[in-house]
Amino acid sequence: MNATSVAAAIRETMLTADPFAKVMKTRELARRWRVGELAFTFDVAMPDAPARPEKPELLAPAAMPKRGRGSAHGRLALLHALAHIEFVAIDLALDAAGRFGAEMGREFVDDWLSVAADEAMHYGLLARRLRTLGSFYGAMPAHDGLWDSARDTAHDVAARLAIVPMVLEARALDVTPKTVEKFLAAGDARSARILQRIVDDEIRHVRFGTKHFVALCESRGESPANAWKTLVQRHFHGAVKPPFNDSARRAAGLSREMMAGVATPPTALHTPMHEMAGGSDQL
Ligand SMILES: [Fe+2]
Ligand SMILES: [Fe+2]
Repeated sequence: MNATSVAAAIRETMLTADPFAKVMKTRELARRWRVGELAFTFDVAMPDAPARPEKPELLAPAAMPKRGRGSAHGRLALLHALAHIEFVAIDLALDAAGRFGAEMGREFVDDWLSVAADEAMHYGLLARRLRTLGSFYGAMPAHDGLWDSARDTAHDVAARLAIVPMVLEARALDVTPKTVEKFLAAGDARSARILQRIVDDEIRHVRFGTKHFVALCESRGESPANAWKTLVQRHFHGAVKPPFNDSARRAAGLSREMMAGVATPPTALHTPMHEMAGGSDQL
């Protein structure tokens, strides 16, 4: 990586398709930023979408094959879906830093590049686990559409934070503890440990999102709870549905008051997005 500006280094990493190479570049980028080798300069634009490897084949959520819940193959497919989510999460964090860093400042870049390094580690742990279990990332189709939210919110950092970390990543806080239990019950403690590690880190990612969102709203003289509600209504097409993991959400800065504004009322809980995505639309 020869880039000397942080934006050029981020762009190069986003345009790297091969998963292993993207992971290595993300780690190098985060390290070079941390030690001050990259200038806080935004001289190139971010790509509309990151480069993608040839495999996995990307399918619309409704076209995804059923995972066969409870079976060994079902658990393998779940690990594959989670590896894909972590892989896309690398680019989501990079894009946040590269697209909005100039207006948001150094701490914002610090935070999202550290998130990108975490996501690269999460992806790496899951990809290695798939190999150990006789599969690999790319062996199954994966869910397309995880980049849609990035595209929908590319014009406004408040909208990006309101949706990507504060809704999509926060969803992982609710669902992952149950997934951990499922793997433990099936006797797969190693996968359970990886998922527990991931959920612990995701609390920090959501907290970064909430912190920058609240600071931005306050600087604009807006109420964070109201602004979040408006942005979720405008840009999120699924359901934000209870039960919520209240303690993890509170640790991430999402108070009950904040949640009350965006939660889907129980009568409307049949919005099918999470079901269609097989519960895998968390980051
Ligand atoms: Fe992650
Ligand atoms: Fe994350």
